[in-house]
Amino acid sequence: MLRQYVYISTADGIGPAEIALILEACQRNNAARGITGLLLYNGRNFLQLLEGDVEDLSWVMRKIEADPRHGGVSIIEDISIATRACPDWLMRHIRIADQVSERRATLDAELPAEIEPNLRRIILNFAALN
Ligand SMILES: Cc1cc2nc3c(=O)[nH]c(=O)nc-3n(C[C@H](O)[C@H](O)[C@H](O)COP(=O)(O)O)c2cc1C
Repeated sequence: MLRQYVYISTADGIGPAEIALILEACQRNNAARGITGLLLYNGRNFLQLLEGDVEDLSWVMRKIEADPRHGGVSIIEDISIATRACPDWLMRHIRIADQVSERRATLDAELPAEIEPNLRRIILNFAALN
């Protein structure tokens, strides 16, 4: 059964090199586990959407929660889904625009249309924070 998790976490000063390492692990593991999703970082917090089978999501969440690069992992959405919102993204890092005023519009254009409207609002609000 497919589920979709969204969590937020706290991490100061994560640079592009660290993000690249995280994405490398995603390419390796998420492909093998059938996990897809997206990752946002606003300079202080991550927001990650993960979708896949429950067993696979539990497996990856254990790794993610134990990762010392961030803390305070808190799941804000855990829902059953019929189809994936991000079927083609093993883990897509969506860059948040530098200008706060531009963040909603640029992100709105990049988020998949299949994301449920309420969740879309949550993600857009997250991106507007700094
Ligand atoms: C914000 C964040 C998101 C992450 N997302 C994933 C993920 O989707 N898949 C994954 O395998 N690892 C992810 N990681 C990395 C894991 O915590 C862990 O370092 C990695 O899975 C180890 O992979 P390895 O055992 O193949 O070396 C993430 C780490 C952070 C900090």
